[in-house]
Amino acid sequence: MAPKRIVLFASGSGSNVERIIRYFQDKPNVTIAMVLTNKSDAKVLERCKTLKTSALYFNRTAFARTDGLLDVLKGLRPDLIVLAGFLLKVPEHIIQAFPNKIVNIHPALLPKYGGKGMYGDHVHAAVKENDEKETGITIHYVNENYDEGAIIFQATTAVVPEDTVASIAQKIHRLEHAHFPKVIETLLTTP
Ligand code: GAR
Repeated sequence: MAPKRIVLFASGSGSNVERIIRYFQDKPNVTIAMVLTNKSDAKVLERCKTLKTSALYFNRTAFARTDGLLDVLKGLRPDLIVLAGFLLKVPEHIIQAFPNKIVNIHPALLPKYGGKGMYGDHVHAAVKENDEKETGITIHYVNENYDEGAIIFQATTAVVPEDTVASIAQKIHRLEHAHFPKVIETLLTTP
């Protein structure tokens, strides 16, 4: 059977992208078709070079146009589109072209700490500010509203008073790296 094709979107460091690429490197049933980024200087591009994975930068105009990135995406024939640290809202025409094929990872236990402006360290700062006893990750389908699509998977980690924004971020990344590739694999291989 032809390998299942993943297209990854990222805006920054890309540690999750790297983890996903490495996880599937020696698995013939899944292939990374392309990594797409909206930041021309994102660290994820360096990681892709090192990992010999195709990557492409696109600008906001191409993202918004119905004959821009959408055509590129259709040509890539993805079985799953994975947002791994991607910070732009996905336009409706792309969501509609790939129903139930776009998933996102969010660094909190949705529905808490979701929505516009809630990303990366902003989330962890809010968790600390509110003296939460636990936080976690949410992997969910992407729909037209930020962080509101159906939840696929969650995992939790404890927050202690000594935690800083940086240590919470570290705990979250550890959870993401442990679970995200496996959840993607399950989505791609479960009939
Ligand atoms: C991850 O923690 C991811 O959950 C978060 O950005 C980080 C990217 O890290 N995404 C969001 O906040 C989306 N709202 P990475 O670039 O090292 O993978």
